[in-house]
Parts: sequence; C-alpha cells; structure tokens
Amino acid sequence: MDIKNIKYEISNERADKCPATSVPEYAFIGRSNVGKSSLINMLGKSKSLAKTSQKPGKTLLINHFKVDNGEWYLVDLPGYGYAQRGKDQRDKIGSIIRHYILEREQLTSLFVLLDIRHAPQKIDLEFLDWLGENGVPFSIVFTKADKVGVNAGLQNVEDYKKVLLEKWEELPPIFITSSEKGRGRQELLDYIYSINHEIARGGCEVEVPEQSDEDKNAE
Ligand code: GTP
Ligand code: MG
Repeated sequence: MDIKNIKYEISNERADKCPATSVPEYAFIGRSNVGKSSLINMLGKSKSLAKTSQKPGKTLLINHFKVDNGEWYLVDLPGYGYAQRGKDQRDKIGSIIRHYILEREQLTSLFVLLDIRHAPQKIDLEFLDWLGENGVPFSIVFTKADKVGVNAGLQNVEDYKKVLLEKWEELPPIFITSSEKGRGRQELLDYIYSINHEIARGGCEVEVPEQSDEDKNAE
C-alpha cells in the first residue's frame, strides 16, 4: 500500500496538547541529525513536509503529520544527544520526548533511527533500555544507507544485532533505509499498514521486544 495523502498539521511541545485523535500514530526518534525529518519527507514523497538541516538540533517540537485523510499520523520528534545544545535545552527536549513517548496513548509504534555508519553508541543503547523498561513497542530503522557500501552497511547491521542480542531476548523489526534514494520506503509502509489493518480488525499484534532476565535485573 502507499500513502494517499499527507499533510503537516501542528507542532507542540507537550503531549497533552497534541491533536485529540483516536487513530494510530507512528513516531520517529533518534539522535539529532540521524535523519528523522528526512525520513518523514521520504515517506511523504516531499522535500518540504518536515524541516531538515545539515546541522543537528533542527526539530525542537512534536510535529504531527496527518496521513490518508486522518486515518493515521506520522510524528517527527526532536532528537536526543546534541551536546552543543546546552544543558537546559537538552533537559527540556529530553522531557518533551519522554512525556510524549510515555503519555501519548495514540503512539502505536516508535521507530528508533540509527545511523548505519556508526558502531553501537552508548546513548542509543541506553535509550533502547529505557524503552524496554517502560514497555514501549519499537522498531529499529537504520538511516543513510546510501553513505556506505552495501557490504559495510550489512556488516554494521549485523554488529548491531549482536550487541542487541546481548541485552534482548529477540530482535525488534529492523529496517534499512536511505531517504536520499528512497530505500526501505515500501517496507516501512507495508509494516505500518499491516499494523493499521490489525488495529482496524480489532486486534493488535505489535510486540514489545523482551529484555533478557539478566538485563532486567541489572539495575
Ligand atoms: P534533528 O531534527 O536535528 O534532530 O535531525 P533529524 O534527525 O531530523 O535529521 P534531518 O532529517 O534534518 O537530516 C540531517 C542531515 O542528514 C540532513 O543534511 C539530511 O539531508 C541528511 N540525511 C538524512 N537522511 C539521509 C539519507 O538517507 N542519506 C543521506 N545521504 N543524507 C541524509
Ligand atoms: Mg528533525
């Protein structure tokens, strides 16, 4: 399936101010500059739906995009981990992200974006742990696949899987994307539409990945 239409709706800094809907929404999170806003544009086949920048720290609010006449939403979130932002703003952004993820009931699945060029980073692994502790369903989306050779990219994904399996009993869904080339677009949309379909049928098969017992007890 493909998106029939997509439209920017509103930006907020608080989860309780987000649109009063009762439809599924899918949000993109990850480090600043990983490519969250670009991925929204890639899915929407537009260069200007979401604002992007070469410099990290562009998206500062929760941005809602209405898809298929409001049947579901895509949400662009601010990035975490931008050191140069200063502590106050980092704390503020962290709070926006945490509240949205924990309080937004419409959030059906979270996509955690990771730059395919980098080895597993502490900040991302800690974020995934936090999702696990809070029972938030998520998938992993590797971004910028056009920036590495095919083999190097696949090797990085395999390395990441190994690190994840040290902490998690099973792997979440994993997607490899390039917003530049449109890679992974159909796979992501097929995944989203399959969940929407399940929800419409009255069931939902979104699985929360399980952390291993050892890790759960590690605190
Ligand atoms: P913040 O809003 O600052 O958290 O960043 P973001 O995660 O939304 O990143 P954004 O989409 O603004 O992209 C950051 C930079 O990476 C921009 O210069 C994009 O053009 C570039 N970029 C994003 N995705 C890709 C990709 O798949 N391939 C390539 N080559 N560049 C990409
Ligand atoms: Mg952004």
